[in-house]
Amino acid sequence: MLVKLGGSVITEKGSYRTLRADALSRLAQEIKASGAAVMIVHGAGSYGHIVAARHQLQKGYSNPSQIKGAAQVMEDVRALNLEVVSRLNRAGVASVSLPPSAVAELSGGALSGLDLDRFGRYNDLGIVPVTFGDVALDSKRKFGICSGDQLMESLAERFRPERIIFVTDVDGVFTADPHSDPRASLIENVDRAALDALPRSQRNADVTGSIFGKIEVMMRIASHGGDAVAINGLAPGRLEAALRGQRVIGSKVVGGAE
Ligand code: IPE
Repeated sequence: MLVKLGGSVITEKGSYRTLRADALSRLAQEIKASGAAVMIVHGAGSYGHIVAARHQLQKGYSNPSQIKGAAQVMEDVRALNLEVVSRLNRAGVASVSLPPSAVAELSGGALSGLDLDRFGRYNDLGIVPVTFGDVALDSKRKFGICSGDQLMESLAERFRPERIIFVTDVDGVFTADPHSDPRASLIENVDRAALDALPRSQRNADVTGSIFGKIEVMMRIASHGGDAVAINGLAPGRLEAALRGQRVIGSKVVGGAE
């Protein structure tokens, strides 16, 4: 099982470096309780996006004033990662941090290298590898942002998990933004046609792309054969049930045509 704990569920996205500590601790306990073998990716939320956007880090190097910003984001996402790893360890899920700033390489913003063997070897030892959205070196742009979704895709391609679970702060993929539109309804099976029908107003992109980009990644992952689902991590018990292979409220993303 491959799990992404989105920045929206483990942090308060609008308020700089604010952890959703209760949600994170509970999710760690749910992972333990499920008994599932997992690899974990987490987003950056308010530990990454705010400063990254201020310094336009996703576009790569353009001026020296970005350097302090890049270092600040790397420090902040490490702090978040330590919160995640500590809570997993405390819950009884032995975990290790694999920061993209140290184990990943970008090329023009695309993930071009990831030390996947290291993930496999820790996994074989019974230690859950935990990686996350981070700043990483870029061979063309000097540095860039390596998103949790890019990491999910690369890990899914290599390890072919049975199920890929994206955990967010909403029930799944909606016809409109559920935070602002009361008519938004949950799309249980997301395919290319459903994606094309989504209103473009959903395109309020953060530094790592819009919801469309995330769904595209999920469709590509699902096309490798696994099951890709998006669920609400703020609803107690859903992650545990999804890890047990049970049907839960959420969206199932059906493999997209490449
Ligand atoms: C963002 O990673 C990385 C940085 C801004 C440093 P993600 O795109 O995976 O994070 P979330 O889940 O949207 O917060």
